[in-house]
Amino acid sequence: MTSTDLVELAKRRGYFFQSAGAYGGVSGFYTYGPQGATLKQNVENSWRERFQVREGHREIDAPTVMPEPVFEASGHLDTFDDMLVECPECGESHRADHLVEDNTDIEEAESIPIEEVEDLIAEHDLKCPNCGTELGGVSVEDFNLMFETNIGPGSSSPGYLRPETAQGIFVEFPQLAEYARNQLPFGITQIGKAYRNEISPRKSIVRVREFTQAELEHFIDPTEDEPDIERVADVELKLYPAEEQEKEDGEYVYRTVAEAVEEGLVHEWVAYYLGVGKQWYESIGVDMDRFRFRQHLSGELAHYAADCWDAESEVDGDWIEITGYAYRSDYDLSKHDEYSDDDFTVFKQYDEPKVVERATVDPDMSYLGPEFGGEAGDVAAELEKLAERDRAAFEGDEVTVEVEGEERTIPTEKTGFGVEEVKETGEHIMPHVVEPSIGIDRVIYTVLDHAYEDDVVEGEERSYLSLEPEVAPTFVGVFPLVNKEGMDDRARGIADDLRAEGFDVTYDDSGSIGRRYRRQDEVGTPFCVTVDDETADTVTLRERDSTEQVRVPTEDLPDLLADLREGETTFAELDAAAPEQ
Ligand code: ATP
Ligand code: GLY
Repeated sequence: MTSTDLVELAKRRGYFFQSAGAYGGVSGFYTYGPQGATLKQNVENSWRERFQVREGHREIDAPTVMPEPVFEASGHLDTFDDMLVECPECGESHRADHLVEDNTDIEEAESIPIEEVEDLIAEHDLKCPNCGTELGGVSVEDFNLMFETNIGPGSSSPGYLRPETAQGIFVEFPQLAEYARNQLPFGITQIGKAYRNEISPRKSIVRVREFTQAELEHFIDPTEDEPDIERVADVELKLYPAEEQEKEDGEYVYRTVAEAVEEGLVHEWVAYYLGVGKQWYESIGVDMDRFRFRQHLSGELAHYAADCWDAESEVDGDWIEITGYAYRSDYDLSKHDEYSDDDFTVFKQYDEPKVVERATVDPDMSYLGPEFGGEAGDVAAELEKLAERDRAAFEGDEVTVEVEGEERTIPTEKTGFGVEEVKETGEHIMPHVVEPSIGIDRVIYTVLDHAYEDDVVEGEERSYLSLEPEVAPTFVGVFPLVNKEGMDDRARGIADDLRAEGFDVTYDDSGSIGRRYRRQDEVGTPFCVTVDDETADTVTLRERDSTEQVRVPTEDLPDLLADLREGETTFAELDAAAPEQ
């Protein structure tokens, strides 16, 4: 199916459509319709079940607007940029790296330095896709993707809409660590909106300006904690390592999670979550023949990532990133520890107390006071941190520290530097973080695209969405064969009973029965129940994909449907067990 077909179907069947159409629509904002919102909830719940409940992690819900200092610390203010080229003729903005990718054989232009992208645009005579003007010689600029706002009246307190849900977890680490009783490892999840002022939104919900992320930040002790690889050891991974991507004839590498770790191909924690992720994508209907894990090239790594693999799906001939699996090391916690007034370490208790040497300072305040005035306390605090970090800095006659960006130099003799032996019961360590960051909208796009099927039923062409029962927004359609003779009352009663049992049910009595089946097929409803006799205590149960039908006792319906939903039985088994008609 082309992306145009998918977008058309999504709109017609209430999956998603561009927001505020009545006012002309705004690029990069989409509304999920009645079917789409339920599909989204089902995907989110399934993600919760796999990445959170089964892994023993906990979820939080943080604000979407955060103050500027958070993003100064996280690096987003300085480095969260994409490459922008503006057409000098029509003024349209384009992502320069995407222009290069779309018009050359280069696949990951994001990893190429900005000056080289400018050269490539000139070399390949790239033109503005909107008006055809030559873009060679036009400068390419860094464009920060964060949406800025003011917190409260005036402009004294700038804030930003979060570009990733992750920062809402990192900034709360001191509270979260306390909640976890300072015991590593522990994992915190969050699902919610993230915002990026994308230069050129495209492919409907694949690249939008407001989207939903489902993220897990797993905090670990890098020297001790190991993932329980056994749980996913045999999961097969289709890997596209950076090394292979750089070759002319690079190939996929097929390994189990255990093999990928043993060979050092993937970091063990990242590999663990690639295994969890693969199981999850498969369970919600991502076609594994159109799926791969691709390692980031070094120039492509985000500012926080030490290693990163993307889960990518193939849609309409393109590979799109649906999840980033990053080893973020201690980047974020160290930054917040440095920039904020709080402590982002955890205290790790030793089994036995240890006698250790500790560097201390006892600054001469009668010198620091007159010399640095109101900053004397900060200078003393910086000296203490420096002593902990770098004893060698005290070997010369003078020591230099930085306070509010300014260097302050102090004679070493005035710092009271010394090394003493102390008994320590533990130490403060900075946890490392492994992060699966899932883009729910892109997962939904993939699930819909991969579920789309065409066939011919009784000489008639049909298209249907073969959605997994676990995520299908409507689980069962209930119809009376004809809208009279008491069949409608019985069908309504069955629909009510099934709703009371927790099933998503749609009731439909309009049009021919064939049309009603087609409508449910197209929307992806896995089963339909038809009341075709007002007196019988049986109904017809029809399966979407095979279009097979089986007669079942009405009273068994809730249990049968529950078994089908949970995968306890298959329709083929029901069919085989049914008495001959
Ligand atoms: P891309 O290179 O495609 O812009 P990214 O590398 O910036 O993506 P990440 O920063 O790793 O993406 O974000 C994590 C996940 O969030 C992605 O895997 C993707 O599924 C989702 N995501 C990121 N940007 C968008 C967007 N503009 N619209 C929809 N989903 C997005
Ligand atoms: N949290 C990963 C990202 O959004 O970049």
